[in-house]
Amino acid sequence: MSALDDVIAAETRLSEVDGVNGRLVICGHSLDALAGRKTYEAVLALLLGDLFPGSEDTLRSELAEARLLAFQRVARLDTDLLSLPITEGLRAIMARLPDGEDKSAALLQIAAPAVFVPALIRGKSGKSPVPPDAGRGHAEDMLVMLTGAQPSAEQVRALDTYLVTVSDHGLNASTFTARVVASTRAGYASAVLAALGALKGPLHGGAPGPVLDMLDAVRAPENARSWLTSELARGERLMGFGHRIYRVRDPRADALKSALSRLGAAGGMDAARLALAEAVEREALALLRAAKPGRVLETNVEFFTALLLEALGFPRDAFTGVFAAGRAGGWIAHAHEQIETGRLIRPQSRYIGPKAA
Ligand code: ACO
Repeated sequence: MSALDDVIAAETRLSEVDGVNGRLVICGHSLDALAGRKTYEAVLALLLGDLFPGSEDTLRSELAEARLLAFQRVARLDTDLLSLPITEGLRAIMARLPDGEDKSAALLQIAAPAVFVPALIRGKSGKSPVPPDAGRGHAEDMLVMLTGAQPSAEQVRALDTYLVTVSDHGLNASTFTARVVASTRAGYASAVLAALGALKGPLHGGAPGPVLDMLDAVRAPENARSWLTSELARGERLMGFGHRIYRVRDPRADALKSALSRLGAAGGMDAARLALAEAVEREALALLRAAKPGRVLETNVEFFTALLLEALGFPRDAFTGVFAAGRAGGWIAHAHEQIETGRLIRPQSRYIGPKAA
């Protein structure tokens, strides 16, 4: 049964995922030209050019103002909310934001996950939230809100690289969800909230935490082959490998691997952890090639996401929330594009149940 494989459900100017050649293009720019070279705000200016005409600098200050607005809600983080896993806590607090199709509702949706995720992480360990500072860039501010300390330039660049790398990716499950909800004219907050629900699943944005669980279980490079072999024998999927569209390596994995190498060279990455990850990747690819000879299963974005976000100090149950902080830009851009079409998304199903008596 099809899961809409190969169905073209939207026309978009935002991004192109070329699964055959392993290429991602965002608004006419190859990912290689953006990741590690441009800030998240610069890429938002590309994605949201129609919605917020203006320079990168204008967007930077508007987004910073939206972070300050989002932070006003952080004071209301209650114990019920802090007892939830971070993705669910994020979903709950995002649900309290006002809906609408105006620019301020859109900006708040993009800014809010970057404020709420660090506040939830700190709140869960009894620490008070660190307020945003409109003078900082989005990635730098997110790291300060996480740790309360000034990050290094290489750490800021690494988080910017991550946010840019995941900012948009064609009609993935969460983006499609955002477009469906936006097409009903429910508003940006509803679209992002629904997208967040779709992102949470382990087959989409919930995979990077389990990637670290896998590395912890393997423990040492020499155990990789036997551990992975027994997982596959039990019918388990190896987290961080495979993709519905890519038939070659996910270009985002390479962008993040380069960011990790730069972070490692600047002393911001544990060398033993990187060596373990490289051994797991090497063995997993060899085993998957042997197990599924007819299907190219390569490393996907989630594998290196896990290592990068861990090195930056994010706990593993916050990884999906950090993903949302980057993807929120793409969700809003797609929601806007869908609204502009003026068309409700309403596919059909084929009835295969019993005939009426
Ligand atoms: N480990 C082991 N086997 C796998 C894996 C994997 N990671 N991925 C696919 N397979 C197997 C499938 O079980 C299937 O086997 P079968 O033919 O015997 O049933 C075969 O390979 C083909 O699978 P596909 O149909 O090509 O995979 P699909 O497109 O349905 O799934 C998905 C893609 C969900 C990403 C899958 O590869 C997976 O579960 N990966 C692990 C989770 C993960 O890393 N998710 C993050 C994806 S990236 C993102 O969303 C941001």
